[in-house]
Amino acid sequence: MSDFQVKINGISVDVTRGMTVLQAATQAGVKIPTLCYHDDLVPFGSCGLCIVKQEGSAKIIRACSAPVVEGLSVITHDTELFEVRKTILELILSTHPSTCLSCIRNGECELQDLAAEFGIREQPFEVRLSDRPKDTSTASIVFEPEKCIKCGRCVQVCQDLQGVYALEFIGRGDMTVMAPAAMMKLEDSPCVRCGQCVVHCPVGAIYEKDQVADYIKAMNDPEKQIVVQIAPAIRVGLSESFGLPVGTVTTKKIYAAIRRLGAVAVHDTNFGADLTIMEEGSELLGRMSDGGLLPQLTSCCPAWIDYVQKYYPDLLEHVSSAKSPMQMVGAVQKTYWAEKMGIDPAKLFTVAIMPCTAKKHETI
Ligand code: SF4
Ligand code: SF4
Ligand code: SF4
Ligand code: FES
Repeated sequence: MSDFQVKINGISVDVTRGMTVLQAATQAGVKIPTLCYHDDLVPFGSCGLCIVKQEGSAKIIRACSAPVVEGLSVITHDTELFEVRKTILELILSTHPSTCLSCIRNGECELQDLAAEFGIREQPFEVRLSDRPKDTSTASIVFEPEKCIKCGRCVQVCQDLQGVYALEFIGRGDMTVMAPAAMMKLEDSPCVRCGQCVVHCPVGAIYEKDQVADYIKAMNDPEKQIVVQIAPAIRVGLSESFGLPVGTVTTKKIYAAIRRLGAVAVHDTNFGADLTIMEEGSELLGRMSDGGLLPQLTSCCPAWIDYVQKYYPDLLEHVSSAKSPMQMVGAVQKTYWAEKMGIDPAKLFTVAIMPCTAKKHETI
């Protein structure tokens, strides 16, 4: 049900109160370029790429955050808007390294796509790159400050959605930087390695640590025996990343592919989940019969455990001491399974394919 109509490039669109100009334009089939905006987050309005002209006034408004009002009529595309947006992008690129070929986001980068869309081939502005070093302090997440375009998505997701407050903007004006609180290393910050900043970053500034090279090294080492475990979620998650329809289950293909990649065995983390549940069940019965602390809390998510440790230490005694399913399988692989197979555990290279960055932190 619509409340009123607005005009986008002369096209009348039914809208409801509270919608943004960007949402109205999308409804009209008009694509306005955006960079800092993300559907999951409250519009931050930092990049200015989504500017549109309000007809009948000299006003330029940011479509991602401006609400529709009765009688509104906007122009989203003309030569002047194109040139302003292009200049904004050139300014962003003047503080951004041109290292796409070696960048983890090459081919999947919103800034790269926009630069191509606006035909940016030269840099008219003086290039000023950050000299802040890459932060590789955590086992799962890498932060490259020189690639950060200060869009604010990671800060918002970390603070408003995750409630962690590990990231923030520091400084003022041109000197503002995005960094872990007090400019500390991520490892020393309250970060719980949930990976949501990685998922929301539009560029290659904050990303998952890649261990593929370690796997290839083990694959080519005749002394190593690779054994893999796969989490339940990846049998649909991997399908999605290979472009298959959401929800497609490819368990058998995954098993076959891993065996072709040199693994001597592939184990299902579901088995570890059964072990965890049995351990947790025994612990609960023990707590109930011995007058232990209740309720007993459990989670297989290391980010959740980390969050309790950092933010609710008074609840720690409630958390079950059972290993997570991934740790259960890893322990069984190196002990019971290695013995059954007659493999020296020291020669085992264990790999866990998990759906989340926090699992990498759990391994250390
Ligand atoms: S973040 Fe994007 S634009 Fe920047 S180097 Fe990486 S791929 Fe290129
Ligand atoms: S991984 Fe999670 S907790 Fe850590 S900085 Fe990113 S969003 Fe915040
Ligand atoms: S790290 Fe990424 S998401 Fe965070 S401010 Fe920089 S560019 Fe934006
Ligand atoms: S997308 Fe609207 S200001 Fe960045």
